[in-house]
Amino acid sequence: MKYNTQVIDNSKRSIAKAADLLTNGEVVGIPTETVYGLAGNAFDENAVSKIFIAKGRPSDNPLIVHISSIDMLDGLVENVPELAKKCAEEFWPGPLTMVLKKTDRIPDITSGGLDTVGIRMPSHKTARAIIDKCKLPLAAPSANLSGSPSPTTAQHVLNDMDGRIPCIVDGGYSPVGVESTVIAFEENAIKLLRPGFISVDDLKTITDNVLVDKGVLTMLKNDAVVASPGMKYKHYSPSADVVLIDSDCDSFKEYVANHSDKDTWCMVFSDSDLDGVDIPCISYGTTDTEQAHQLFDVLRKLDDVGAKKVYARCPSKTGVGLAVYNRMLRASGFQVIKL
Ligand code: TXA
Ligand code: MG
Repeated sequence: MKYNTQVIDNSKRSIAKAADLLTNGEVVGIPTETVYGLAGNAFDENAVSKIFIAKGRPSDNPLIVHISSIDMLDGLVENVPELAKKCAEEFWPGPLTMVLKKTDRIPDITSGGLDTVGIRMPSHKTARAIIDKCKLPLAAPSANLSGSPSPTTAQHVLNDMDGRIPCIVDGGYSPVGVESTVIAFEENAIKLLRPGFISVDDLKTITDNVLVDKGVLTMLKNDAVVASPGMKYKHYSPSADVVLIDSDCDSFKEYVANHSDKDTWCMVFSDSDLDGVDIPCISYGTTDTEQAHQLFDVLRKLDDVGAKKVYARCPSKTGVGLAVYNRMLRASGFQVIKL
């Protein structure tokens, strides 16, 4: 344990302290509207290498660079395609990351050796205040240990990062709960690399030409060449063996009643899903936005209760549900039972 990790509030004074640490090449846990990020100066190779070490992240998995104003794009990217300008106008600040051609000012370590960089302008007040204060673009992956569920509270960050970073800014529960939508641009199309709160239908308000990368819904091999390297890694996993059950409520109930033992838990939409069946459960919400909001907290709670096997009800796959489904596919290692 190198650091005595401090959790600080999001007062003006704390924001100044976080900005000061960032300016001095340190790594700070910061709240955003999606999930908490592990932030460092995107221009500083040394700071960025500390992020990779704290997370235990594979070096070929690029980081997202966070800005607080459109002017900060200058110098970070070579050019901004028309479609990207429209997306920025419509969805920034907010949970959308755009992959654009990077300039030499972004070191290779930040972009995982790619010639592109993912840029996002968060809407979270505290995240924006920290960027404004240090006047630096901040590289920030989700603030979890690599492979664990993303953090949606400062406590989640502390659980994973205690002793690994000097400071975490507490900005409350992340309202969205799943990471940003990641897109790239091809000719006249938007390519979805990772689904998030900005849905395919939202993107279709910019152009009809929205393609979904094959990595969103299918398992990729670890040595695969992929558009978004993060998609090939096992992710968001609690220690339990998670199985997604794609079915209606009655079939779910019948299946789990016949396949559970004493260490089995269920992840359901609402507690009433298991009426009449005596298996412990945690509910993650009945709408796709509720499910997105609670997903990672529930995955972490399943670890806390010591679940060994988890049968999870499958989310909707449309709207924000696609993001929840994408994360659940990874949490389950693509184990889906369709009934
Ligand atoms: O909401 C979010 O995006 C959060 C908060 C903190 O902003 N950040 C986040 O970062 O989720 P991370 O590092 O956990 O996930 C970044 C994802 C990865 O799947 C990565 O492969 C992809 O974005 N990505 C980043 N830069 C890319 C690039 N240049 N090309 C393709 N994919 C990229
Ligand atoms: Mg992540």
